[in-house]
Amino acid sequence: MHSDGRRWCRGFMWIDDCDKMVDRQKALLMVLIALLIYPNDIFGGAFPPEFAGPIMNLTVPLGRDATFKCLVKHLGGYRVGWLKVDTKAIQAIHDHVITHNNRVSVSHSDHTIWNLHIKSVQKEDEGLYMCQINTDPMKSQTGMLSIVVPPDFIPEDTSSDVTVREGGQVMLTCRARGVPPPRVSWRREDGTNIIIRKPFAGSGLNQKSHVTSVSEYQGEELKLTKISRTEMGVYLCIASNGIPPAVSKRIFINVHFPPVIHVPNQLVGAPLGTDVVLECFVEASPKSINYWVKDNAMIISSQQHDVQAIVKSQFEVWMELTIRNLQKHDVGTYKCLAKNSLGDVESTIRLYEISGPAKTQTAAKPSFYDEEDEPVYGSAEIEKMDNKALSVDNAINGHMGYPSVATPAPTTRIGKKRLTIGASSNAHHRAAFSLLVIVPMLIVVHQRYQ
Ligand SMILES: *[C@@H]1O[C@H](CO)[C@@H](O)[C@H](O)[C@H]1NC(C)=O
Repeated sequence: MHSDGRRWCRGFMWIDDCDKMVDRQKALLMVLIALLIYPNDIFGGAFPPEFAGPIMNLTVPLGRDATFKCLVKHLGGYRVGWLKVDTKAIQAIHDHVITHNNRVSVSHSDHTIWNLHIKSVQKEDEGLYMCQINTDPMKSQTGMLSIVVPPDFIPEDTSSDVTVREGGQVMLTCRARGVPPPRVSWRREDGTNIIIRKPFAGSGLNQKSHVTSVSEYQGEELKLTKISRTEMGVYLCIASNGIPPAVSKRIFINVHFPPVIHVPNQLVGAPLGTDVVLECFVEASPKSINYWVKDNAMIISSQQHDVQAIVKSQFEVWMELTIRNLQKHDVGTYKCLAKNSLGDVESTIRLYEISGPAKTQTAAKPSFYDEEDEPVYGSAEIEKMDNKALSVDNAINGHMGYPSVATPAPTTRIGKKRLTIGASSNAHHRAAFSLLVIVPMLIVVHQRYQ
């Protein structure tokens, strides 16, 4: 306490008077000490400086501002300084900034809250900061500044869009940096699952794999094997480390395969004068050129024909050919064709004439009526039903070039209304009707590959 008094005197340059003053005050203080027990300060008449609380540690995203608060009681004439512990660089003393770092500033209020501000924190600002009071011995406390960095992809280690043949494999990579180190996960943009096929350990020639389907996959690398067309699409890799914003990257996997055509109805019967719709369902990637042919002539939209292509997905297209006001010369064989860079394929539909409404009305009960209570008609000519021909094409795998046998699944359409039945008293037609009920609709016909 005595030495404090001396320093105080020196600080204010009253050196001549100081000793005398101190002597007098010493006497007074002796009394005060005796009375109050507590140590005292002659000039401030207060307690020695002390900290009112710890310095809070700060965790600040790169580029944001940071403020350390040093809470001090009874500062009196003492001064508060800031020091960076690792470099020992003095940041500020009282209200003067010492460091050359122009992002550093200080402020205080009521001599009790002393702030050190660091604007737009950089990596090198990280570390321990010390708040000092120039007592003797000096008093200090520290607070840690930690810098966090939101995730960011490393472009050279991150995949971009890929194209793969169906059945092949792709390896997608997404690497991200950030502090703390980010976690990378994968999702499909359309919300469907990711299919992971992992070969069983030690599997020999019989390459079986363990297949799992997950909505989210964790890891920087996503390996997709035996890829199918349904796995085509946008994959998102998402990097997050708890520091917003998380980042994501879209990677498109383009799965290529030659065109395939499914024909729901290969035999279509309709009365003259009605509108008939023929349909082919095409799968192809890259997108195929699709068209209709009859008698070696391509059919284009006209008064007589309406040619439509309805896109169902990235690789699926419905081809619809409407023949208006069916005439005798329209009857015959129609072909739908699809062609892309990997191959081409065609399918045939036979359109034939059936007797008009007046006649078919005498037929056995139709299975349904349309909305207008108008009976819908139909009849089918069944050529040959062969159970072997009922194989259903697997759209995912297979169809490697052998033409499957077409199974006629007779259906008649009048306008856009599908006729499910058409039995007549005639035995031949009755047989057709019963078969009609059993025969599945999926048909795949001749496919050629380059
Ligand atoms: C700041 O972090 C250090 C460890 O890094 C810890 O010892 C100290 O208690 C923390 N301070 C506060 C105020 O939480």
